[in-house]
Amino acid sequence: MLSGRNEVIYSSYKNTTYQMKVNEYGVLLHLYYGRKISDVVMDYTLKNYDRGFSGNPYEADKDRTFSLDTVPQEFPGTGVGDYRINCVNVENADGSGLADFRYVSHKIRDSKYFIPGLPAVYDETDEAKTLIILLEDPVTHLQAKLFYGVLEDNDIITRTVVYINNGKEDIKLTKAYSACLDLPFGEWDLVHFHGRHCMERQMERVSSMNGIKSIESKRGASSHHHNPFVILCEPNTNEEYGDCYGMMFVYSGNHKTQIETDQTGATRVVMGIHEEHFGWNLSAGESFYAPEVILTYSAHGFEKLSQNYHETIRTNICRGKYKVARRPILINNWEATYFDFDEEKIYTIAKSASELGIEMLVLDDGWFGVRNNDFAGLGDWFVNEEKLKGGLPKLVKRVNDLGMKFGIWVEPEMVNEDTNLYREHPEWVLKVPSRNPNRSRYQLVLDMSRPEVIDYLFDCYTKIFDSTNIEYVKWDMNRSIADVFSTNLPANRQGEVYHRYVLGVYELLDRLEKRYPNLLIEGCAGGGGRFDAGMLYYTPQIWCSDDTDAIERLQIQYGTSFGYPVSTMGAHVSASPNHQTGRNTSLETRGVVAMSGTFGYELDLGLLGEEEKNEVKAQVETFKRYYDLIQDGKYYRLSNAMDAIDYCAWQFVAKDQGETLVNMVQIRPRANGRLIHLKFKGLNPEALYQLDGSEEVFNGAALMYGGYTFERKAGDFPTYQLHFIRVK
Ligand code: DGJ
Repeated sequence: MLSGRNEVIYSSYKNTTYQMKVNEYGVLLHLYYGRKISDVVMDYTLKNYDRGFSGNPYEADKDRTFSLDTVPQEFPGTGVGDYRINCVNVENADGSGLADFRYVSHKIRDSKYFIPGLPAVYDETDEAKTLIILLEDPVTHLQAKLFYGVLEDNDIITRTVVYINNGKEDIKLTKAYSACLDLPFGEWDLVHFHGRHCMERQMERVSSMNGIKSIESKRGASSHHHNPFVILCEPNTNEEYGDCYGMMFVYSGNHKTQIETDQTGATRVVMGIHEEHFGWNLSAGESFYAPEVILTYSAHGFEKLSQNYHETIRTNICRGKYKVARRPILINNWEATYFDFDEEKIYTIAKSASELGIEMLVLDDGWFGVRNNDFAGLGDWFVNEEKLKGGLPKLVKRVNDLGMKFGIWVEPEMVNEDTNLYREHPEWVLKVPSRNPNRSRYQLVLDMSRPEVIDYLFDCYTKIFDSTNIEYVKWDMNRSIADVFSTNLPANRQGEVYHRYVLGVYELLDRLEKRYPNLLIEGCAGGGGRFDAGMLYYTPQIWCSDDTDAIERLQIQYGTSFGYPVSTMGAHVSASPNHQTGRNTSLETRGVVAMSGTFGYELDLGLLGEEEKNEVKAQVETFKRYYDLIQDGKYYRLSNAMDAIDYCAWQFVAKDQGETLVNMVQIRPRANGRLIHLKFKGLNPEALYQLDGSEEVFNGAALMYGGYTFERKAGDFPTYQLHFIRVK
């Protein structure tokens, strides 16, 4: 039974309006999403006319002006005359591949929905609302239940879809995306974040083209290569001006976002799980839950768009004790020792770190199994007593006795062939039995879709975590996935494996978090290869990149900042010359860059001279002093790091505008160079701000509209970190 013809679903929030309309044929049209418009139905902007080769639904009869191919739709079907990119592909029981979604009903719920087994934005204030719209194909009765969660204060609309087989015959979903956004008018630049191992989330902006652009990962993880987050903006948009829309996928596996500008000049964006190697069988009565997409709209450029995401991720995605509790400043032994360590070496690192005020020792890769290099060990999660005599409890106690917390590295999803685990359970890896698998870093991938694998890993880690006082875990994942095949599933369900793998990862994280509510888990995948909102639901911080070079980090952290807050970005001071690039930078510069993240160190402190040790001590104190301002303040980009020839600058402002921290790295030494002049942001124009360590006082208006002039420093990559406190 279809109803609600010509009904307008109209939602106006604090700053935005989202409008849809059910037309006379039950098609759910998208009318408008953007800056707030009150009390006007925007269907007057749509003018149908007869376009050749864009056919008409049967019920339109002699009306050749209405075509599914040319109207903006909220959730288009497949195979029924809309030739643009779409959200769903099906194999119906009769062999046809059609789905024609028509409106059935809608309702509004007074809370934010959640998605079983998947991460999603949550709301603790009870102010969020959910709009649910039910669409159905009239023949197969495949339903698409569209969910819209609204967080008004941050201009956020979340979306997801539940696919329900409400018919009697089996249906296979071969594409089941999460959201479609039709922008009927305008020209749109695409901003996206591409990269590679050691150079993640490089911001790129490209102008619109007639045709289709695609941002995607088929690596089993969200990937270093294409982050599941895009921005569409008007061509004149900059940090402070212009209309822009963000779409962020709350998912850590394969993904695809497509953007199409069609024959009418309209732009459609679709986002979801990548359809390649995907297939999900829905028997009568079964449902499939698609992951969530977080949409935001900003009428005031990228700055506001990023701040909407920062606030939402900090408050409505990250969870657990360390969502608010101050995270410890850590020392990680990886770049100090790699695999070459024993108990004494680790203890010595911890001891010198504790003397400098560092609060946690993280023991990285190499403490378990026969793990002396990366050929062996992954999967055998018991301590290597040759390296750590007396085991973990003894070492942890010694570290704790220094007044430091202890953290440990794991890579649960992987296995080396040279392990007891692989010898006992070769069937537990992703691999087609008749083929040799693709190796990467000499490791294979465990079949996380198998419940017994999750149970095995849970048992291994609970044994370790219960045996001693482990307060932090770095959860790594060091290869892209291939050979996706589970011996646990029949041939016609192999298309489920990639997604079931991700569900398995989420389940293991969830079980560990429930058992250890005070544990801080840091995500990692060879640096930032799985830096996404899905992982952030379980791990409130993620190692941003294996590239620890401070100057490279300027671009990596800049790109990351468009969608993700500073409180999520793992950043460490490492050795100079840098191990990845060979570049020399001062300790000061490395400190300032790493402080714009979850701060830590990753070098052999024993090799530092007294002067440098004192500098580290001072840095640790500085970070502790600015912690709240950096982690919880508003973040402003003051320059474009991708074009940064001369300098790169960024700023934090306390939410009450009571203080600000301006950071600037001079990129190039110049003879007789021009002065660097910056206009600050986000201050109270009438308030007076004093520059720390000086008598200088400025009002906010002067600093924001007139700006501040820096004298150039000589040498390579000098840094400025200016702190202003409101005095009146
Ligand atoms: C990749 C991580 O990103 C590094 O920090 C380190 O933990 C290594 N893996 C260890 O194998």
